[in-house]
Amino acid sequence: MSEKEILEVSEAEIAVHWQEEEYFHPSTRFIAQANMTDAGIFDRLSLDNFPECFKEFADLLSWYKYWDKTLDTSDAPCWKWFVGGKINASFNCIDRHLAKYKNKAALIFVPEPEDEQHVVLTYQELYVRVNEFAALLRDFAGLKAGDRVTIHMPMVPELPITMLACARLGVIHSVVFGGFSGKACGERAADSGSRVIIYMDAYYRNGKLLDHKQNADIACKVAKEEGQSIDKVLIWRRYPGNDSSDTPMVEGRDFFVDEVLKDYSGKRVAPVQLPAEAPLFLMYTSGTTGKPKGCQHSIGGYLAYAAWTSKYIQDIHPEDVYWCMADIGWITGHSYIVYGPLSLAATTVMYEGVPTFPDPGRPWRIAEKLDVNIFHTAPTAIRMLRKVGPDEPPKYDYHFKHMTTVGEPIEPEVWRWYHKVVGKGEAVIVDTYWQTETGGFLCSTMPALHPMKPGSAGPAVPGIHPVIYDEDGNEIEAGAGKAGNICIRNPWPGAFQTIWGDRDRYVSTYYEKYCKNKDSKNWRDWPYFTGDAAVHAEDGYYRILGRIDDVINVAGHRLGTKELESCCLTVEEVAEASVVPVADEIKGRVPDIYVSLKPGYKQSKEIEDKVVMSIEKTIGKIARPKHVYIVPDMPKTRSGKIMRRVLAAISNRTDVGDVTTLANPEVVEEIRQMVQGD
Ligand code: WT7
Repeated sequence: MSEKEILEVSEAEIAVHWQEEEYFHPSTRFIAQANMTDAGIFDRLSLDNFPECFKEFADLLSWYKYWDKTLDTSDAPCWKWFVGGKINASFNCIDRHLAKYKNKAALIFVPEPEDEQHVVLTYQELYVRVNEFAALLRDFAGLKAGDRVTIHMPMVPELPITMLACARLGVIHSVVFGGFSGKACGERAADSGSRVIIYMDAYYRNGKLLDHKQNADIACKVAKEEGQSIDKVLIWRRYPGNDSSDTPMVEGRDFFVDEVLKDYSGKRVAPVQLPAEAPLFLMYTSGTTGKPKGCQHSIGGYLAYAAWTSKYIQDIHPEDVYWCMADIGWITGHSYIVYGPLSLAATTVMYEGVPTFPDPGRPWRIAEKLDVNIFHTAPTAIRMLRKVGPDEPPKYDYHFKHMTTVGEPIEPEVWRWYHKVVGKGEAVIVDTYWQTETGGFLCSTMPALHPMKPGSAGPAVPGIHPVIYDEDGNEIEAGAGKAGNICIRNPWPGAFQTIWGDRDRYVSTYYEKYCKNKDSKNWRDWPYFTGDAAVHAEDGYYRILGRIDDVINVAGHRLGTKELESCCLTVEEVAEASVVPVADEIKGRVPDIYVSLKPGYKQSKEIEDKVVMSIEKTIGKIARPKHVYIVPDMPKTRSGKIMRRVLAAISNRTDVGDVTTLANPEVVEEIRQMVQGD
């Protein structure tokens, strides 16, 4: 193989030899109560009826002014949905339910300490708390529609309250995952131009009350260095009136929300009537280059898509108790803990802590106690619970009618355990494939209409029309047994609108690769490039193989290798770094780090620790590497490009292939021995 060929072989082009799995069927009991049992849905949402067919999504929402144009493509590929409509997301998730459901539980918060009672917020209580906080944001923090606010909070009810208060005012929220570092928060605050950041003082994780407020000081400092000054830090307290953090308050900048809120007791704020295509939130996600991208989601299109998919794929009815174990700091939590379930007047459960705390029976005790009947989690959590508590679920008297898996491919073996043991053979499972950018599900079975196939996400969601292209843009047919790049032919309402402040990057990352004509205003010329490799089976089911770009999906969370590498380079001794995904029994994939040192330095445990520390500090514990290998040199092409593929093969003990065309082939064997030890 030539050097060029080595560089260009992508996982997407490798033929696949998966064995076909057998089907599992939904029970008649599930089908009898399901929200969608009409197979005509696929015709209604066929490309022939595009884009008007999405009216049925928009009609799940309440509009102040009904929209007059379904899809505006004049600024392709920045699509605008439901143009002319006026809407408010907070109104749709709260106010409109009050007449019928004001005394029904909207949110149930389960604290991590088991001796702390769970907290129930009815729709009326949620209404009161969101209004009061919205009044504070407007009158105390001076925020108005279009302003951005960065929220760095853990899984506490004050997080959805904060988001919905922002939405009420049209303030664009940007939630940063609570487990991320203060630095990550500061960078995102700077990129979005937030003058206000919102924190929680502390939260429980694995039995410990962690000081989270200390991150606020770092965030403000980092934002300042990047040219953005933070005027106000609003801090919710885990125990109002009591300090759980030793970090001192900064006079004039930091305020305890519970103290300021006293002035806003009983205040009501009319929801601001906003254009359907105004932004609702930003969600930062890692890309192939260092800087995270702020995916901008709209109000009308996003909410319509989250509501429709929640209703028909999650099968949520107002009387269901729905528990998604994800974190609200990720898109899953935005769409399928907050916006989707609340727009349908469901009861949504949120859990503060670690699923296996204090023991692996915890999730099932929660399910039993709250009588949860819809359960949603990721393969990582399923693998973990299967490893540490394989016999726990039958000990508890709960019954799920429906379960979801999301975020990464699930091994058929793990799927079968989820179905048989967690789902007690009763629950229907949907394996939902989507991305931060897509707002909601792209592929999934319709739970009452399709059989399930372990390891496959299923066909496309009604209204989504995927196509698999090879590197040259030829379509790979279903059943061809070859993987390719999965793209979506058509725009859909849940798709993000742009990357905050970087339209060029939006176009080049997601629309350039297979664009047929860059000047075209016709959506048919702009397939959406997901960046994932997939195979399309003969029965129409998609099996997602993973990212084709340099993004590592750890435990369902995406990490840019470039981001990790640039972080390693902040360690003084490190000259070069390369990060590759290595298979991990629990998390699916985790980073393995290879570094080479600057001249004059010798390999030491201390340097390895420094690399780990730098990753934890800059990105967060989630990115902690499996190994750090200090190597004499990186395998490189003659043009100096580090051959990640070779390192990945060594880490995963697969064939490194032909390396003779490299500039330094001898180093490959040296590294292999060091890593594999033989
Ligand atoms: C990437 C998106 C979608 C919310 C959670 C992650 C992978 C997602 C599946 C699935 C196989 C999946 C893809 C995708 N992925 N769902 N059901 N089967 N792979 O959101 O952080 O934006 O990551 O997760 O690689 O591109 P995200």
